[in-house]
Amino acid sequence: MSKIVVRGGRKLHGEVQISSAKNSVLPIIAGCILNGDKCVINNVPMLEDVFVIIDILKSIGAKVDINKIENKVIIDTEDIKDCMPDSELVKKMRASFLIMGPMLCRFGHFKISLPGGCNIGTRPIDLHIKGLSALGAKINVGYGYVEAFAKKLVGSNVYLDFPSVGATENIIMAAVMAEGETIIENAAEEPEIADLGRFLNSMGANIMGIGTDTIRIIGVKSLKGTTYKPISDRIECGTFMIAAAITRSKFKINGVNFEYLKPIIAKLTEAGIYIEPKGNSVIVDGNRELRHIDVKTMPYPGFPTDMQSQITGLLCTVKGTSIITETIFENRFMHAAEMKRMGANIKIDGRSAVVEGISKLTGAKVRATDLRAGAALILCGLAAEGETEVSDIYHVDRGYVNIEEKFKLLGADIERVN
Ligand code: UD1
Repeated sequence: MSKIVVRGGRKLHGEVQISSAKNSVLPIIAGCILNGDKCVINNVPMLEDVFVIIDILKSIGAKVDINKIENKVIIDTEDIKDCMPDSELVKKMRASFLIMGPMLCRFGHFKISLPGGCNIGTRPIDLHIKGLSALGAKINVGYGYVEAFAKKLVGSNVYLDFPSVGATENIIMAAVMAEGETIIENAAEEPEIADLGRFLNSMGANIMGIGTDTIRIIGVKSLKGTTYKPISDRIECGTFMIAAAITRSKFKINGVNFEYLKPIIAKLTEAGIYIEPKGNSVIVDGNRELRHIDVKTMPYPGFPTDMQSQITGLLCTVKGTSIITETIFENRFMHAAEMKRMGANIKIDGRSAVVEGISKLTGAKVRATDLRAGAALILCGLAAEGETEVSDIYHVDRGYVNIEEKFKLLGADIERVN
């Protein structure tokens, strides 16, 4: 199994290019099921999770052409059948659930194994079920699988008790060809949901209010194929911003959308990092006196839970006491035990981590416990004295394109060891 070895302490410099958003591309690929036609998706990040969702679509009959040189994927869903996708693939990631809405909309039925994914909490599916049931589906959660039937989907009002990203996406995709109007209230507002909405509208859907907490969908009769380019990955960009901060370096990050980064930039600026937008790029200067801060994860436009482990790593190196509160997932501090191996002073108190900054982390053998935790440990390794070995790197490969290559281009002493 691959490991990443980092010899820390180097300043980073130069430029790095951000890939498209994994969390946009996954629902967009699932959404291709809806039209029974051909879609061309450009700028696709060639990541493990993307390959898994593509393989899931192939397992039910889609024809997919992946061009890794042009980062382009052509998906033809004409021959998709109403059958159960490969359960071994579905178990690999939670986002497999994103095919529920499209399958239900196109076939009036789906049967899918209960998916896996990062081990960061219980991650129930009650909100997905609530939304799909409101549109008329009869849903049965059996031992290890979930199955739904609907003779006809009819638009409805759905109020989400919590703005779940996946549930919002599934309900939108189920509703696009339902009869009449669907209104989702307390919908999640993440930019990737707006991106999915724009993709579906480019296929002929009629979705309004995307990117707000009230989404209105007027059902249409059919959808057609389209060509689409997803937005850039704000979490990958945030991870590189923290790389600049944790190594007290200055470099340029290209291919970013400043608007979507505001919740991350607000906290980094509060911590003393200088961030300057320049068109589709940002210059990040972390070579400053940094300040300890408190951070609380929240649904968008709050600070993203997917950046929590990375900012925790940074605050381990900033003098003073920082408190990081995780409100989205109940088990998302597994990286703390690994950071402690590197000398970090972190105490977990319920949903909060109390971090006492130290002057220098020390290289150690650590394990990526989930996708973002793995990225955070690489960041800590870049700042640490000596050598850090991050094992179970397959977690990181689910969400970052060539992470060690991108850091190498910035001057880091980093390599992958198989
Ligand atoms: C998506 C992202 C993930 C991110 C998360 C929160 C994708 C592919 N993944 O995951 O990277 O960390 O949003 O921003 O886009 N919940 C329920 N019932 C449900 C659904 C969710 O209680 O039916 C709870 C979850 O357990 C969790 C919280 O809601 O505590 C947030 O989950 P959700 O927004 O659904 O996250 P995902 O869509 O799984």
